Amino acid sequence: MKILSIETSCDDTSAAVVDSNSRDVLGFCTISRLKDHANFGGVVPEIASRHHEESIFDAVSCALSESSLNSCDLEAIAVTTKPGLIGSILVGVSFAKGFSFALDLPLIEVDHVQSHATSAMIEHKNLKPPFLSLVASGGHTSIIDVQTYTEYETCFKTVDDAVGEVYDKVARSLGIPYPGGAKLDQMALEGECKYKMPVPKISNFSFSGIKTWALNISKNIQENEKNNLASSLVYGISNYVSDHLIRIARNLGRDKISIGGGVACSNVLRSVLKRRCDLHNIELFIPSPKFCTDNAVMIAFQGIYNLGIDKN
Ligand code: KG4
Ligand code: ZN
Repeated sequence: MKILSIETSCDDTSAAVVDSNSRDVLGFCTISRLKDHANFGGVVPEIASRHHEESIFDAVSCALSESSLNSCDLEAIAVTTKPGLIGSILVGVSFAKGFSFALDLPLIEVDHVQSHATSAMIEHKNLKPPFLSLVASGGHTSIIDVQTYTEYETCFKTVDDAVGEVYDKVARSLGIPYPGGAKLDQMALEGECKYKMPVPKISNFSFSGIKTWALNISKNIQENEKNNLASSLVYGISNYVSDHLIRIARNLGRDKISIGGGVACSNVLRSVLKRRCDLHNIELFIPSPKFCTDNAVMIAFQGIYNLGIDKN
């Protein structure tokens, strides 16, 4: 089955064409207009929806032409229906509905967070549920128990900010343009953990106190101390998140962990978690960066699972 997928839940407009039998990605195109949000220090929902309207036709055309298929070769359409910025989601869903109506194709609803949680299966063909997954991005930070291809349970989630949000805000306070998570991660590798990050003791993730702690230090910081603050924050959060991931995996008896979302690109998080997983004989599955950040390929794959044509 040839599936067209559409992802517009935040600021990236992404489309892909995937063959459900071979699991090959036949076409994949993401149009990012992140720079237009930089002046505001974050994604502005109204601007994001307008960008999706401007870009969606081009993203779909680009994915289709890369696949060398025509729209009449498509057999189903998968689209992100939740969660996300409502105006942005509406653009993707309206486009997908129009397309499916015109071509008389089934429309598959896909949960964005679930597709981040299962995204490691795109490249790691040996990864099969059940496994535990960390989804960490600018909007989400959750530990998800992927029980089957279509069922999951959220075990732990942030009660306030998401990790990416903290990184972007602290980075901005250090003079790094939005989104500063990747740069902060790079600086962390060059610094020392000189500041002691407070670790929340509540029964869910919380990052707002950590954000305030880092922002307070950043206000009067000397240039030569910035890498040390980045190290203290990024290693501190990576340890905090990894501690809970390992604890929950052991409690649930899960021997496989995956990560997804933009923050899963963090080299610090990847190395901290790898060390912990090795120590506890847990296998770690990490997607390529292009499948960590928002992308339509993960929507196509979750769409395939939702159709029930992947039970092996
Ligand atoms: O998944 P994503 O592309 O979009 C959503 O927020 O849904 O994630 C973006 C977030 C931003 O906060 C960005 O700063 C962060 O992921 N990020 C990183 C890295 N690359 C992107 N954070 C830490 N290290 C990175 N290498
Ligand atoms: Zn996302």
